[in-house]
Amino acid sequence: MSVQLLTSIRYSVFLITLLSGVTYAVAPPVSDDGKTAKKKAQEDPEYIAEMKAKVFSKENSSVANGEHRFNQTCVYCHGHQGSGGKARKLQGREFDADYLFKTITKGKKRGSLVMPPWKRTFTPEERWELVTYILSLSEEK
Ligand code: HEC
Repeated sequence: MSVQLLTSIRYSVFLITLLSGVTYAVAPPVSDDGKTAKKKAQEDPEYIAEMKAKVFSKENSSVANGEHRFNQTCVYCHGHQGSGGKARKLQGREFDADYLFKTITKGKKRGSLVMPPWKRTFTPEERWELVTYILSLSEEK
Protein backbone atom coordinates (compact mmCIF):
# COMPACT_ATOMS: atom_id res chain seq x y z
CA MET A 1 0.00 0.00 0.00
CA SER A 2 1.41 3.33 -0.91
CA VAL A 3 1.96 5.97 1.69
CA GLN A 4 -0.32 8.23 -0.23
CA LEU A 5 -3.21 5.78 -0.14
CA LEU A 6 -2.71 5.23 3.60
CA THR A 7 -2.75 8.93 4.23
CA SER A 8 -5.91 9.38 2.28
CA ILE A 9 -7.59 6.49 4.13
CA ARG A 10 -6.58 8.07 7.42
CA TYR A 11 -7.89 11.33 6.20
CA SER A 12 -11.27 9.91 5.29
CA VAL A 13 -11.58 8.12 8.61
CA PHE A 14 -10.85 11.40 10.27
CA LEU A 15 -13.45 13.16 8.14
CA ILE A 16 -16.09 10.54 8.83
CA THR A 17 -15.47 10.78 12.57
CA LEU A 18 -15.67 14.51 12.42
CA LEU A 19 -18.82 14.52 10.34
CA SER A 20 -20.67 12.01 12.51
CA GLY A 21 -19.74 14.14 15.49
CA VAL A 22 -21.26 17.16 13.82
CA THR A 23 -24.35 15.21 12.81
CA TYR A 24 -24.76 14.03 16.37
CA ALA A 25 -24.53 17.57 17.70
CA VAL A 26 -27.01 18.96 15.19
CA ALA A 27 -29.44 16.06 15.24
CA PRO A 28 -28.99 13.72 18.21
CA PRO A 29 -30.53 10.24 17.76
CA VAL A 30 -34.30 10.71 17.66
CA SER A 31 -35.34 7.52 19.41
CA ASP A 32 -34.91 8.88 22.93
CA ASP A 33 -36.45 12.21 22.12
CA GLY A 34 -39.36 10.54 20.41
CA LYS A 35 -40.00 8.37 23.44
CA THR A 36 -40.08 11.33 25.78
CA ALA A 37 -42.46 13.15 23.48
CA LYS A 38 -44.68 10.10 23.27
CA LYS A 39 -44.71 9.73 27.05
CA LYS A 40 -45.67 13.38 27.37
CA ALA A 41 -48.45 13.07 24.83
CA GLN A 42 -49.73 10.07 26.75
CA GLU A 43 -50.33 12.18 29.83
CA ASP A 44 -52.56 14.50 27.84
CA PRO A 45 -56.00 14.63 29.55
CA GLU A 46 -57.72 13.97 26.24
CA TYR A 47 -55.67 10.87 25.61
CA ILE A 48 -56.30 9.70 29.17
CA ALA A 49 -60.06 10.14 28.70
CA GLU A 50 -59.86 8.25 25.41
CA MET A 51 -58.06 5.35 27.07
CA LYS A 52 -60.58 5.34 29.92
CA ALA A 53 -63.44 4.92 27.45
CA LYS A 54 -61.55 2.22 25.60
CA VAL A 55 -60.64 0.23 28.71
CA PHE A 56 -64.13 0.48 30.24
CA SER A 57 -65.77 -0.55 26.99
CA LYS A 58 -64.14 -3.98 27.07
CA GLU A 59 -64.42 -4.50 30.74
CA ASN A 60 -63.86 -8.23 30.99
CA SER A 61 -60.47 -8.27 29.35
CA SER A 62 -59.50 -5.06 31.10
CA VAL A 63 -60.18 -6.50 34.53
CA ALA A 64 -58.21 -9.60 33.60
CA ASN A 65 -55.26 -7.55 32.39
CA GLY A 66 -55.46 -5.40 35.49
CA GLU A 67 -55.51 -8.43 37.72
CA HIS A 68 -52.49 -9.90 35.99
CA ARG A 69 -50.52 -6.69 36.49
CA PHE A 70 -51.76 -6.24 40.04
CA ASN A 71 -50.47 -9.69 40.91
CA GLN A 72 -47.07 -8.83 39.51
CA THR A 73 -46.61 -5.39 40.97
CA CYS A 74 -49.07 -4.48 43.69
CA VAL A 75 -49.69 -7.67 45.64
CA TYR A 76 -46.49 -7.24 47.59
CA CYS A 77 -48.02 -4.31 49.49
CA HIS A 78 -51.75 -4.59 48.93
CA GLY A 79 -52.14 -8.32 49.36
CA HIS A 80 -53.86 -11.04 47.35
CA GLN A 81 -56.91 -9.56 45.63
CA GLY A 82 -56.25 -6.34 47.49
CA SER A 83 -56.84 -7.97 50.87
CA GLY A 84 -54.27 -5.69 52.47
CA GLY A 85 -50.85 -6.16 53.97
CA LYS A 86 -48.30 -3.41 54.19
CA ALA A 87 -50.84 -1.02 52.70
CA ARG A 88 -54.57 -0.74 53.27
CA LYS A 89 -56.83 -3.28 51.73
CA LEU A 90 -58.46 -2.30 48.49
CA GLN A 91 -61.22 -4.89 48.38
CA GLY A 92 -64.72 -4.23 49.60
CA ARG A 93 -64.30 -0.49 49.36
CA GLU A 94 -66.05 2.13 47.27
CA PHE A 95 -63.70 4.04 45.02
CA ASP A 96 -64.12 6.67 42.38
CA ALA A 97 -62.46 5.59 39.11
CA ASP A 98 -60.75 8.94 38.55
CA TYR A 99 -59.46 9.00 42.13
CA LEU A 100 -57.94 5.57 41.60
CA PHE A 101 -56.32 6.58 38.33
CA LYS A 102 -54.84 9.71 39.88
CA THR A 103 -53.57 7.87 42.94
CA ILE A 104 -51.95 5.12 40.88
CA THR A 105 -50.41 7.74 38.61
CA LYS A 106 -48.98 9.90 41.37
CA GLY A 107 -48.41 7.46 44.21
CA LYS A 108 -49.41 7.99 47.80
CA LYS A 109 -47.99 7.75 51.24
CA ARG A 110 -49.19 7.10 54.72
CA GLY A 111 -46.67 7.91 57.40
CA SER A 112 -43.43 6.23 56.45
CA LEU A 113 -45.16 3.86 54.03
CA VAL A 114 -44.70 5.09 50.52
CA MET A 115 -46.27 3.98 47.28
CA PRO A 116 -44.22 5.25 44.35
CA PRO A 117 -45.91 6.90 41.38
CA TRP A 118 -46.61 4.38 38.59
CA LYS A 119 -46.66 6.93 35.80
CA ARG A 120 -43.38 5.78 34.31
CA THR A 121 -44.09 2.09 34.76
CA PHE A 122 -47.56 1.86 33.26
CA THR A 123 -49.17 3.58 30.30
CA PRO A 124 -52.53 5.30 30.90
CA GLU A 125 -54.24 2.27 29.34
CA GLU A 126 -52.51 -0.08 31.75
CA ARG A 127 -53.37 2.17 34.70
CA TRP A 128 -57.05 2.18 33.72
CA GLU A 129 -56.94 -1.60 33.57
CA LEU A 130 -55.67 -1.63 37.14
CA VAL A 131 -58.54 0.73 38.02
CA THR A 132 -61.16 -1.64 36.59
CA TYR A 133 -59.63 -4.50 38.55
CA ILE A 134 -59.69 -2.56 41.84
CA LEU A 135 -63.28 -1.51 41.16
CA SER A 136 -64.19 -5.16 40.55
CA LEU A 137 -62.85 -5.98 44.02
CA SER A 138 -65.31 -3.64 45.65
CA GLU A 139 -68.26 -5.23 43.86
CA GLU A 140 -67.43 -8.81 44.76
CA LYS A 141 -66.70 -8.53 48.41
C1 HEC B 1 -44.32 -0.43 48.22
C2 HEC B 1 -45.67 -0.77 48.59
C3 HEC B 1 -46.76 -0.51 47.57
C4 HEC B 1 -46.89 -1.04 46.30
C5 HEC B 1 -45.94 -1.98 45.58
C6 HEC B 1 -48.15 -0.54 45.81
N1 HEC B 1 -48.75 0.26 46.73
FE1 HEC B 1 -50.55 1.17 46.54
N2 HEC B 1 -50.30 2.05 48.36
C7 HEC B 1 -49.23 1.87 49.19
C8 HEC B 1 -49.36 2.77 50.33
C9 HEC B 1 -48.37 2.89 51.48
C10 HEC B 1 -50.54 3.51 50.14
C11 HEC B 1 -51.06 4.63 51.03
C12 HEC B 1 -52.17 4.40 51.90
C13 HEC B 1 -52.45 3.00 52.30
O1 HEC B 1 -51.73 2.46 53.14
O2 HEC B 1 -53.40 2.44 51.76
C14 HEC B 1 -51.13 3.01 48.90
C15 HEC B 1 -52.33 3.43 48.38
C16 HEC B 1 -52.91 2.96 47.23
C17 HEC B 1 -54.21 3.34 46.75
C18 HEC B 1 -55.16 4.32 47.44
C19 HEC B 1 -55.94 3.62 48.50
C20 HEC B 1 -56.77 4.55 49.32
O3 HEC B 1 -57.25 4.10 50.35
O4 HEC B 1 -56.93 5.72 48.98
C21 HEC B 1 -54.42 2.66 45.59
C22 HEC B 1 -55.65 2.72 44.73
C23 HEC B 1 -53.25 1.86 45.34
N3 HEC B 1 -52.36 2.05 46.36
C24 HEC B 1 -53.08 1.05 44.24
C25 HEC B 1 -51.90 0.38 43.94
C26 HEC B 1 -51.65 -0.31 42.71
C27 HEC B 1 -52.63 -0.43 41.57
C28 HEC B 1 -50.40 -0.82 42.79
C29 HEC B 1 -49.64 -1.59 41.74
C30 HEC B 1 -49.40 -0.93 40.50
C31 HEC B 1 -49.88 -0.46 44.09
N4 HEC B 1 -50.82 0.27 44.76
C32 HEC B 1 -48.63 -0.84 44.55
C33 HEC B 1 -48.18 1.01 48.99
C34 HEC B 1 -47.94 0.29 47.83
